[in-house]
Amino acid sequence: MSDTDTGTTVRTIDANEHGYRGFRLGEFTFTRDEYFAHIGWPTGSHVMSIDDFLRAMQRDVAWNFFYGTVNFDHVLGTVNHYGDVDLFAGTFNDSYRKAELDHLENFPHDDIMVTFRAILDEWTNEGFDPFAAPEETGSAWGDKAGGNPDAIGRRRVAAQRMVGVPGDEELRSDETGHPINRMFADVDQSEPERHPEPGFEDQVCAFNLFAYLSRSNVTWNPSVVSVCKDSLYCPTTEEYILPIIHGNDRVEWFVQLSDQIEWEVADRVTGSLRARVTMKPGDVAAMPADIRHQGYAPKRSMLLVWENASPELPELIATGRAPTYPVGL
Ligand code: PHB
Ligand code: FE
Repeated sequence: MSDTDTGTTVRTIDANEHGYRGFRLGEFTFTRDEYFAHIGWPTGSHVMSIDDFLRAMQRDVAWNFFYGTVNFDHVLGTVNHYGDVDLFAGTFNDSYRKAELDHLENFPHDDIMVTFRAILDEWTNEGFDPFAAPEETGSAWGDKAGGNPDAIGRRRVAAQRMVGVPGDEELRSDETGHPINRMFADVDQSEPERHPEPGFEDQVCAFNLFAYLSRSNVTWNPSVVSVCKDSLYCPTTEEYILPIIHGNDRVEWFVQLSDQIEWEVADRVTGSLRARVTMKPGDVAAMPADIRHQGYAPKRSMLLVWENASPELPELIATGRAPTYPVGL
């Protein structure tokens, strides 16, 4: 099978008794059955619950491999080198490394992207939305049954300047297909008053971020709502568990806008636990550049993720010319 956009080839394995095709990428193999994704490589194999696997895969694809490391779980994941991407198994897991079961291969960005997209498309059944909260989606289980191209192909919100600025990302409303989420029924929907001088209507802008977030139909999916050079405001609504364990390659700031999230913070390379952070409304945290973290949100909550998107940062931090933490004592 070849991808017409890029000319890159996706290597498939014939459909199994459950109707799902498998995939090969380098020396890795990917197959699924009714409940599980199975991943193989020359020195080992791994199994993940298919719902967790698809939720992680959805984010890796939609975020274009994100910043740094996307751990699907404690074994499998990707490292973004911004042009090419490592796919690894056990590389950031001390036990796998000691047992020499770990495996890492580097792929050109497009090769791994078209294969990951094909896996997500082939294995996501009708009614299952990997971006939705578990309460708000159908089932990932069972034999192959249709697909869900609208859900897995969502366009990511990425403002050029700011949401609501003329010509930029539009505000959300019932009319745009974004009803208020069941858990945010009490969020004030009024918009700020604006009184720009004539001629400045496209420069003096404001919007109600809480109202905007109350109408998000996805979870754990930061979207860019404002941009100032490399400074990106990426708020998101969270419910249940962040489907990946993110290994940072730069500092990230978190501002808890509503409700509560618990973060498990571990060493980025070994995975050994470093901290538990409970964030309540108004709390601010800076996640260091040498950690991995996963969030737990018992109730839908609003989180502002503040990213520094400078392409120079990973190299500066990796070579010790910039610190792994944002503020010194
Ligand atoms: C993160 O890894 O920092 C992250 C990812 C997705 C979210 C929130 C935080 O929704
Ligand atoms: Fe992160």
